[in-house]
Amino acid sequence: MTSILILNGPNLNLLGTRQPDVYGTTTLSDIEQMCQTAAKALGVTLAFHQENSEGAMVDHIHAARDTHDGIILNAGAYTHTSIALMDAISSVELPVIELHLSNTLAREEFRHKSYISPVALGVICGFGAAGYEHSLRAMVQHLEACS
Ligand code: DQA
Repeated sequence: MTSILILNGPNLNLLGTRQPDVYGTTTLSDIEQMCQTAAKALGVTLAFHQENSEGAMVDHIHAARDTHDGIILNAGAYTHTSIALMDAISSVELPVIELHLSNTLAREEFRHKSYISPVALGVICGFGAAGYEHSLRAMVQHLEACS
């Protein structure tokens, strides 16, 4: 069965209470529930993780090479700083969808730079929590088209 990893970066564990005007009031646990329901309907297996540290995220990406078919990555602030995450993605050669709740291109200039975009299949941003389900559908469609 097709298996997808959704990996969340720093501070996303605080969703629901963190800057709700920017990120909404849905918690990460609500999002996980929503994604698990969507994955079931799409007939895929889903692993869902959140890490605050960059190294732990790199470890998840490495491990995904043998266990998952694609990665949906909301790298949080590491999006704008992490060459390590970019290199990890290039190393595992799995399709990656870059995801953001907010429209990062409509925010501060330092959020316009992404180290993930150049190595990603595509980017979904600005749709709030619903973006997770959109990303899941996009990944499943991509993997089906490749098989
Ligand atoms: C974010 C956008 C990033 O710029 C920010 O640092 C986050 C969340 C988003 O989902 O909108 O932590 O990735």
